[in-house]
Amino acid sequence: MISEEVIQKIKEQNDIVDIISESVQLKRAGRNFTGLCPFHHEKTPSFSVSPDKQIYKCFGCGEAGNVITFIMKTKNISFVETLKYLAERANIDVNFGDKTKVENNKHKKIYKINVDAARYYFACLQNDKKVIEYFIGRGIKNSTIRRFGLGYAPKGWSNITNYLKKKGYSELDLLNAGLITKGKNNSYYDRFRERVMFPVFDYKGRVIGFGGRVLDDSKPKYLNSPETEVFKKGTNLYGLNFANRDLKDRTLIIVEGYMDCISLHQYGITNVVASLGTALTSQQAKLLKRYADRVIISYDSDSAGKNATIRGLDILRKEGFDLKVLSVPQGKDPDEFVRNNGKDAFLQLIDKAMPFIDYRIERAKEGLNLKNGEMLAAYIKKVCNIVSELDPITMDVYIKKVSEETGVNEQAIYDSLSNKNQRNVKNSQNMYSESAFRQKLYLEPGFIKAERNLLKTMLQSIDAYRYVKENIEEEELILDSHKKIFNLIIETKNNKTENDEIYIEARCNDIESSKEWTKIVQSSLVDSDNYKELINDYMREIKKYKLEESKKEVMNKIKLCEEKGLFEESLQLVKQFQEIEEDIMKITNNERR
Ligand code: CTP
Ligand code: MN
Repeated sequence: MISEEVIQKIKEQNDIVDIISESVQLKRAGRNFTGLCPFHHEKTPSFSVSPDKQIYKCFGCGEAGNVITFIMKTKNISFVETLKYLAERANIDVNFGDKTKVENNKHKKIYKINVDAARYYFACLQNDKKVIEYFIGRGIKNSTIRRFGLGYAPKGWSNITNYLKKKGYSELDLLNAGLITKGKNNSYYDRFRERVMFPVFDYKGRVIGFGGRVLDDSKPKYLNSPETEVFKKGTNLYGLNFANRDLKDRTLIIVEGYMDCISLHQYGITNVVASLGTALTSQQAKLLKRYADRVIISYDSDSAGKNATIRGLDILRKEGFDLKVLSVPQGKDPDEFVRNNGKDAFLQLIDKAMPFIDYRIERAKEGLNLKNGEMLAAYIKKVCNIVSELDPITMDVYIKKVSEETGVNEQAIYDSLSNKNQRNVKNSQNMYSESAFRQKLYLEPGFIKAERNLLKTMLQSIDAYRYVKENIEEEELILDSHKKIFNLIIETKNNKTENDEIYIEARCNDIESSKEWTKIVQSSLVDSDNYKELINDYMREIKKYKLEESKKEVMNKIKLCEEKGLFEESLQLVKQFQEIEEDIMKITNNERR
């Protein structure tokens, strides 16, 4: 565990206004700064950053936190990764104790060999007119060859081996870097022969491996470095080191191949990365998240490409990207298209890219004849599946659309939807309401505030702390983050910690608890001499919420039983339902007293 002092130091040396300014345009407004919230879509600023308190807060969506929360959330990295990132940024030397020195040196060595190898391949290309012709013939300019460090691995079995050995590297070094392959009778030979070479950079611009393409139609078309200590499948995105330099609007385009990526960059479309023909992984999605919120996926329109698109979309959606699908017409890949039609034509394709949901609905239609009743029903079912995950407003938009398209009654679509899924608690937790200013204001359910206040009172006096502890158990709280903070508060008392706030903050090491902790510290309680009464109020609020939830649950069960004709069971449930209602009444009456 990283010490509280170090965490404090990292926070002190990374001013929240500086950090947030890197991605959000902030304006001074009195003591604070305001801007458009990076966590939800808005046109008028409701996001506020306080340099005094070193926290941010959004009045539109309720997000809050400190500089660590902000980085965890926007870059989608863990607490420890965030500390590393911020420590590095502020030049604070912290031993995170993860990579051993030996391992680190091993990696450094591979990077170094790779750079030497890339230089060698580059020189070989420059010396070979025929291969330069290959690139020129594919529309690649000399400046692009330089920028991407393209090269050529000449014919022969031991070119790179001899070259690098002369530079002092051992066979083992070359093997570790994946530049040679073991043959029969334990001899080694150059992995890449007679191929144009694409060095693969990581996001920091280090050469982690290579891809080599044949010059003709022979197979395999591409040969890639094997997995090495620094080249791991599904962790990297080709071109990210170039793309992130001038990424302002946090939108990235993902293509499949080396050439697609390089071509688009050459044509001045530089927010492009390539997944290199493999299915996207969640690790890659997380890497992307550091740089982008919106992703446009542009794979080949052949069926393999389409399937890869769908899979990739699912992974990206889980990471919360705003997604679109760009289709290149006439089965071309982005490289061919931009070469034949130019930059503006590709920019138009970007403009026309289809939102993720539209794309899925479009795909659901494939192979179905909507004039056929059965097929139409199958289509509607698929649509229901797709839209069931949406927020109510977006859902409504799509249901209207599909209803108009097919002539199927809107209500009928809604009905089959509500049969399918019961709303879960999570979705109903965050509610929005239109304020007088026609701006969305975040309204929190009472129980969240009550839990927060309950925790706050625990911190305020030892009497209140004792009273809470005597009357409420961890399990009775609703939010997991609150349970965690509840336990941390108890820890501070048990351990007699020096500074409770710093102790707890250092242990709120995930986005939710860090956010909730910020809110608890910031909140102010109603002024009251009677802490017991306050605490009782909070506990009632929490209990009431729980009862309301179980009431809903029982209600659903009753419906199910009735549908199935299980009358006895349903009578039992009705009794249960009434008991819950009575309990709720009791609490409400207590409130009124
Ligand atoms: N790929 C690979 N191994 C193969 C084929 C493809 O690693 N045998 C990867 C490469 O990274 C390639 C990407 O998948 O860039 C996309 O493949 P493909 O569309 O076949 O190639 P292009 O990138 O279009 O290459 P080119 O235009 O040179 O034919
Ligand atoms: Mn191609």
